[in-house]
Amino acid sequence: MIRKRLGFYFGLPLFAAATLSAAVAAEPQTPAFPVVTTTEDGAPIPRSAGLPYAPKNLPDRIVLTPGANPAREMAVAFRTDTAQAESQAQIAVSVDGPTLEEKAKLVSGTSMPIDSSYGPALYHQVRFIGLTPDTVYAYRVRGAAGWSEWYQFRTAAAEAKPFRFLYLGDIQNGILTYASRVIRQAFLAHGDIRLVAHAGDLVGQRDDLDHDDEWGEWNQAGGYNYASVPQVPATGNHEYVDVLKADGSESRRLGPYWPAQFALPSNGPDPVKATTYYTDYQGVRFIVLDGTAAIDLGAMKAQTDWLDAALASSKANWNVVLFHQPVFTCARPNDTKEIKAAWKPVFEKRKVDLVLQGHDHCYSRLTGEAGREANAKARADGGIQGPVYLVSVTGSKMYRLNDRAGSQPDKIAEATELYQIVDVTPKALKFRTYTASGKLYDGFNLERTTSGNRLSEIEEPTIAARRCAGDVGPDGGRCVASGK
Ligand SMILES: [Fe+2]
Repeated sequence: MIRKRLGFYFGLPLFAAATLSAAVAAEPQTPAFPVVTTTEDGAPIPRSAGLPYAPKNLPDRIVLTPGANPAREMAVAFRTDTAQAESQAQIAVSVDGPTLEEKAKLVSGTSMPIDSSYGPALYHQVRFIGLTPDTVYAYRVRGAAGWSEWYQFRTAAAEAKPFRFLYLGDIQNGILTYASRVIRQAFLAHGDIRLVAHAGDLVGQRDDLDHDDEWGEWNQAGGYNYASVPQVPATGNHEYVDVLKADGSESRRLGPYWPAQFALPSNGPDPVKATTYYTDYQGVRFIVLDGTAAIDLGAMKAQTDWLDAALASSKANWNVVLFHQPVFTCARPNDTKEIKAAWKPVFEKRKVDLVLQGHDHCYSRLTGEAGREANAKARADGGIQGPVYLVSVTGSKMYRLNDRAGSQPDKIAEATELYQIVDVTPKALKFRTYTASGKLYDGFNLERTTSGNRLSEIEEPTIAARRCAGDVGPDGGRCVASGK
């Protein structure tokens, strides 16, 4: 649906050189993204109750992201109203008394204006470089009325060292209503999560939803955890907005909030630098790809070549690849053929350990294309494990499982909100999947050996498989999963 245009974002397409003075002094640029409050036929676009997300004179939407080497570099993005002209943070090695201000260093960054349905805002980004590995730092960021509270993070160790990370599938729908409890359950039940991997569609960002509002919900859902734990996000198709080209045909363009909200390493290939990157965290290389740009915007080959090079150069014990559209689908009739053709051979050749994906709004743990029985037999015969493919979902939108979900993946779930906790050591990786209320649902262990990975099933008890039976959902109410 083409929407009624009431105003425009004057946001720059890329953050990099957008200092505030330059950005504000400049003449309004070619309108990039429409600000809309009604649909074409005049119906109001739904927003969160109470309209809570106007930019203020104190910072909000504070999100920590890792540098390419998070032992030495972290970055923060945050939002203020336009009264806070400069992008500023303070950082200090953390101390245990209330004297952080005494040794704090002022660090300046860049700013980017976004004019949204909640009014004009500035998104600021500050990079903290030259940090000491495995050290707790405190930082705060500035609004016109004063500083935020102090937030703390620990830099990564310079060498491989055990740590825990959280992997989340699509948050996208029911962001605050439903997905927030899943994120909070993960943090409450599993201490010392050191990194969060998001497999795309963090928000819905559809034509019939208020985008600024959704990003407000996304930030509220994660709250201070997003400011304290580095976030590693992949784009989904919903981080892109539909645009009309001059010839009237439709295309896609990365929405304005992505480059504003995430200060990412920008070490990917040129056409997709804002969305494709890697970060090395204590013996794990996380490689993030942009499936939408690959499938729809001609950025497949550049990413495939870069992926191959990023894996070839990796010195990590484990290589984890994160993107949105899954190689093997658990909800759709067909696998994502372009990605399967281009990236799966690279994953296999370069011995990727985990492939973390979303998009299908169901759960699937797949250890080989041949199917569950064949894979179990191969393991029993001493076979080594190739890449393990995961699909998961955090928010409230659910899809029905497809026909082969019953026999191809090792484990599936339908109509279930989930989170995944991964404990990494130099020689072993422990993957556990929990439901929204914290019940153990699935898990496996990978052990690195000289001949390759060995996969073993967990021994802890898990709850029964969850899927709909006709119109009845796994909780006994209606089945909320819809066919794809
Ligand atoms: Fe999605």
